Amino acid sequence: MTQHPLTILVTGGAGYIGSHACVELLQAGYQVVVIDNLCNSKPEALTRIEYITGKTLRFYHQDLRDKTALAAIFATETIDAVMHFAGLKAVGESCQKPQLYYDNNVYGSLSLFEAMAAAKVKNLIFSSSATVYQETDQRQYSENHPLGAINPYGRTKAMIEEILRDLANADTEINAENPWKIILLRYFNPIGAHESGMIGEDPDGIPNNLLPYISQVAIGKLAQLSVFGNDYPTPDGTGIRDYIHVVDLVKGHLKALAALTTEHFNNGGCKAYNLGGGHGYSVMEIIHAFERVLGRPIQYSIAPRRAGDLAEYFANPKLALNELNWQVEKTLHDMVADTWNWQTKNPYGYNSP
Ligand SMILES: NC(=O)c1ccc[n+]([C@@H]2O[C@H](COP(=O)([O-])OP(=O)(O)OC[C@H]3O[C@@H](n4cnc5c(N)ncnc54)[C@H](O)[C@@H]3O)[C@@H](O)[C@H]2O)c1
Repeated sequence: MTQHPLTILVTGGAGYIGSHACVELLQAGYQVVVIDNLCNSKPEALTRIEYITGKTLRFYHQDLRDKTALAAIFATETIDAVMHFAGLKAVGESCQKPQLYYDNNVYGSLSLFEAMAAAKVKNLIFSSSATVYQETDQRQYSENHPLGAINPYGRTKAMIEEILRDLANADTEINAENPWKIILLRYFNPIGAHESGMIGEDPDGIPNNLLPYISQVAIGKLAQLSVFGNDYPTPDGTGIRDYIHVVDLVKGHLKALAALTTEHFNNGGCKAYNLGGGHGYSVMEIIHAFERVLGRPIQYSIAPRRAGDLAEYFANPKLALNELNWQVEKTLHDMVADTWNWQTKNPYGYNSP
């Protein structure tokens, strides 16, 4: 990775996090190539990335599992590094359709890594998740916290991590000139939207996640929010998660990309970093923050706990600070206000007029 400007292949670049990554990359002077099959995103997101940045990207409407298409893309484009966001991400759906998740996420990733190796493109940032960690009594997760995903979605992430560790291990022994340089980024709970309000999370149907759900209640599309459990051993009884602004999250990817060129990675390797704020917010704190931004109450009711939900967990983000020089900058107010700005400007997501 020496010539400039570098070209980054962004898989899943039309999606929620990938689209924000494209904006930051283009604004930082990188060239961007996107592969996305649009199974959970809209091409309008790509148009808006170009509008926000005033720059163009190259888009391939392809599925990662199509090896012929991937080989052709790598033959056409000169790629320096890959940010691999493409994947299915709904925990509940992964329990109902595990084969789909293993096929799309694990096989799709294998197909990508094969194409990368064939093209000698061996710099990779992978979207992993805090779901790879085992549930223990420890509430704060460091990168050396025991692994042990508890659902098929989490297991796809854990398997891809294992594959990448094996790839890097095998490679330093046999090919030291151009070794795999891999960073696994374990996200906590990304929320928020770009400050322009032009790109954001656009879930199909009823949202699975708290913030899109609250904003659809606030705008009147959904009647009320169910708070699952108010009898957890937390200060207000509701579950606590480490929410992170999506723009902070993608800035962590740019820091990781820069780290691949430092002496830490001279001999290649595969290393995991948490991307989280380092402390949690309860569901009630999020609701109250939203109410402050709205200036009116949010309708909610208390429902029973959901099976498998933990009371509280959050990141230890010190490794990312020490080695990637990254930490969150946005506040809870930013996360909520930016979500609401996106929601009000786009009440029907990318289908809004
Ligand atoms: N959003 C979160 O809360 C969260 C948390 C932890 C990790 N992650 C991971 O981050 C990544 C991005 O998440 P997101 O929230 O932006 O999801 P998203 O669904 O908005 O984006 C994923 C994109 O990948 C595309 N895609 C999926 N399978 C594909 C395939 N086989 N070939 C080509 N394109 C494909 C989809 O069309 C979509 O545009 C995912 O890998 C997800 O598992 C997300």
